[in-house]
Amino acid sequence: MKRAIFPGSFDPLTKGHLDIIQRSVPLFDEMIVAVNTDTGDCRMAVESFQGLLVDYAKQREAAAIVRGIRAVSDYDYEVRMALMNRRLEPEIETVFLMAAEEYSYVSSRLLKQVFRLGGRVDGLVPALVEKRMREKLNK
Ligand code: PNS
Repeated sequence: MKRAIFPGSFDPLTKGHLDIIQRSVPLFDEMIVAVNTDTGDCRMAVESFQGLLVDYAKQREAAAIVRGIRAVSDYDYEVRMALMNRRLEPEIETVFLMAAEEYSYVSSRLLKQVFRLGGRVDGLVPALVEKRMREKLNK
């Protein structure tokens, strides 16, 4: 049984994240979307974790960590993280998937900034996520 983990802070979850989740589900027997809470197919679970990602991956007996790559700018951060994780836990592979072109410029950080300053983010996050973002902003 090949289980994989898709980790992130997902603050907020974007359509880019959903695209990577949809691409990775057919590749493994089970996918765990792992939300780091230090700072949402039946083969997919959403769990939260604290501490080192590789400790959590090992505890959940995951064979792989899935990460999405948008542009060259992601490469540096992602490779450093993958190599450090491999050093910490050599048996767990990091698998990179290419994000869909239409979401290649979308990041949670950029979305939050645009939204906070009154810009439109519709179409880039699920409708429910946009609703929650509005509720949070109006608090
Ligand atoms: O996509 P993000 O928001 O940059 O996610 C980063 C995440 C959650 C994958 C990373 O911060 C992480 O793994 N944090 C847990 C702590 C850890 O294992 N740090 C060492 C990484 S080499």
